[in-house]
Amino acid sequence: MQQPIAILDSGVGGLTVAKEVMRQLPREKILYFGDTARTPYGPRSSEEIVRFTREIVDYLIQFNPKMIVIACNTATAAGLDDIRSRVPIPVVGVINPGARAAIGLTVTGCVGVIGTEGTIKSGAYEQALRKLSPHVKVVSLACPSFVPLVEKGKFRTLETFETVRSSIGHLREYPMDTLILGCTHYPFLSETISEVMGQSVKLISSADETAREISTILYNQSKLSRGDIVPVHQFFCSGDTKLFQSITQQWLGEQIELTPVVWQIPNIV
Ligand code: DGL
Repeated sequence: MQQPIAILDSGVGGLTVAKEVMRQLPREKILYFGDTARTPYGPRSSEEIVRFTREIVDYLIQFNPKMIVIACNTATAAGLDDIRSRVPIPVVGVINPGARAAIGLTVTGCVGVIGTEGTIKSGAYEQALRKLSPHVKVVSLACPSFVPLVEKGKFRTLETFETVRSSIGHLREYPMDTLILGCTHYPFLSETISEVMGQSVKLISSADETAREISTILYNQSKLSRGDIVPVHQFFCSGDTKLFQSITQQWLGEQIELTPVVWQIPNIV
């Protein structure tokens, strides 16, 4: 039996990471969990987020995954160490990979970070960035109105443009050349964010670098899947399945077959 990689998020945001894992590691089977019934996590207390993350991990662990990926910045900031201490398999978060990618790209040394209130309040990105490059200038901003737009599937509407412009337009006053999308939901809005910030600002999503980290860990542990078996991914959500399914199909396109997907609503709300 092929051991899957379990990926979790508060909703559809972690699909941005799942998509990149599917691209870089096409033999790996993915179990994806979106906690759509309790999204957004951003305004919640870190105690509550840790509790939710534990519940999801306890649920996913029954499928015998070889790795847990917390594809949610808010849950990574609040609960990465906690989950690492609770399970005997590797647990990967998304904050260090995003910080690494930004430091690798910035030329001006001024990096912007946008994320949920929880992530920004935690200071986790500043810490990760300063660890890599002590003199980097970091400008952080919480954007609480972005996640609800993504969860409703509003990626390119006028409302979305106005919300993004009024939330982050003023960041253009800084000499930043790199902006970390410090929430896995934000790549859904990257075209709009790019329109507002201008071409000179490079957008960083942690998806790429996180997938590379997953690949390195599995390679080092000799746990990469081999052979010609085409994996059948499984998706779980705790809320409305129709909207979740439609966003998943739209985002993942034809890269996976959705027919054999198992939909299951765990009783954790
Ligand atoms: N996608 C998540 C993140 O990366 C959480 C968004 C939320 O639920 O507020 O932070």
